[in-house]
Formats: sequence, structure tokens, C-alpha cells
Amino acid sequence: KEIRYFAEIGSTNNEAKRLAAEGCPEGLIVVAEAQNTGRGRLARGWFSPFGKGIWLSVVLRPSFHPLDAPKCTLMAAVALTKAIHKVTDAPCGIKWPNDILYEGKKLVGILTEMSAEMDAINYVVIGMGINVNIAPDEFPPELRDIATSVAAAAGRPVSRLALLAEVLAELETVYCLAVSQGFDPVLDEWRKLSITLGQQVNVLAPGETFTGIAVNIDNEGALLVDTGQGVRRVLAGDVSIRP
Ligand code: BTN
Repeated sequence: KEIRYFAEIGSTNNEAKRLAAEGCPEGLIVVAEAQNTGRGRLARGWFSPFGKGIWLSVVLRPSFHPLDAPKCTLMAAVALTKAIHKVTDAPCGIKWPNDILYEGKKLVGILTEMSAEMDAINYVVIGMGINVNIAPDEFPPELRDIATSVAAAAGRPVSRLALLAEVLAELETVYCLAVSQGFDPVLDEWRKLSITLGQQVNVLAPGETFTGIAVNIDNEGALLVDTGQGVRRVLAGDVSIRP
């Protein structure tokens, strides 16, 4: 597969979207040592210091329905968590829908962007930001309570190259599984790696907030929350796990 490497770039997702729109093949990878304008979800930025993380975007051209594209994010979360478990013994897990956490702090963020027409996907770009060797005091003060790194979780520096190789291998495995057998086996893996299921959660959905126990995800990746007065389905939004 083709890998485009940059010492410095604005955002690997922007470059991957540009190449995808130009017609690049599926599987193209954009990776950078540093991003100047790294982007997170909900129009946030993403701290991407030089040489300290894996700032990576992958172009896919799946034949799924555009409504299934969010499942690419669940797929990436599974691949990333498995890769981290292979390379370290850092006990991290997935917080619904797509953050990888260690001790309640974020190690990895995923930003999936899609271009689709009618009922066909043109491309999906999966952007992954892995905080690899960032020491706690290297994060900007406003991130110190919410962000951590694979090295901090593992208690030692971690080879970015070894981790990158595992991430790409796991991503290929899980994508081939989804293409050949559908999403059900991917969702099963997601359930096993989840730290949200079984927990008491606060749900911040568009326009409302409620509390309950996260009991499962359904076959669309929506979180099912038992509020005590019935099970509510959360397709978009954020949850916080209550201590
Ligand atoms: C989140 O808000 O949790 C998602 C963060 C995604 C960051 C990655 S880093 C590589 C890729 N390029 C970007 O600009 N963002 C994603």
C-alpha cells in the first residue's frame, strides 16, 4: 500500500481527503511527524507535537451504504485497541463511541470523514491520533486532566514504528472481516474491548442529558442505556462514565 510521509503538515485528514477526491486508490495512508492544524471531533483541535505520536489517516472506499460509514470508526477503535494491547500491556479500552482511554484519560482519538453521493460512498477517511510518547507535563495545561499517552500507560517509551505496523495490520484484518462477514463480528470485538458497557453513564445527547446503565450496543453501533424506566438508544452524542 502507498504511504505518504510528511515531516510536518496541516492535517493528515485534509491531505487524505484531497488525495481521495483526486481518485487515489483505497488503502492510501498519510502519516506525519507533526500537524499544525490537527483536527478533532466537534470542531476541536488535536494536539500533534513532532515525533511524539502517530498522526495518521487512511483512505477507504467501502461498498457499504453511507449510513454504515460510522461503523468505520468502531472498526478503527477495535484495530487500535488490539494494536496497543499487542505492543504494550497498557490496560486501555474503548469508551463509546470511539475514544481509547486509560484511567479515564484519552490515549487515542478517531475522526472519520466521508464523501458520499446518493446511496454510494465515494471515500471514507479514517483519521487516527495516537498519543504515543507524550509525557504528562508535555500536554498543554487544559489537556492534562483529560489526555494521556501509550507510554504513560505502559510505563515505558513505546516504538512508534512497531505500533504503526500493528495498527495497519489490525486495521486490514478488521476491515477484511467487515467486508467478508459484515459488521456483526466487528461489533462483538468492540463489545469485548469496551469499558463503557456495564457502567453507569451520563449521556449528553443533542438537547438532553440523562443517566443510566450502558447495557449494549446494537447492530448500528448505537449505545443502549437502561434508565430504569426503559432502554434508550443513543446514536450520537457523548457519554461520561460515572465514577
Ligand atoms: C477526536 O476528537 O477525538 C478525534 C481526533 C482525531 C485526530 C487525528 S490525528 C490524524 C488525523 N488528522 C487530523 O487532523 N485529525 C486526525
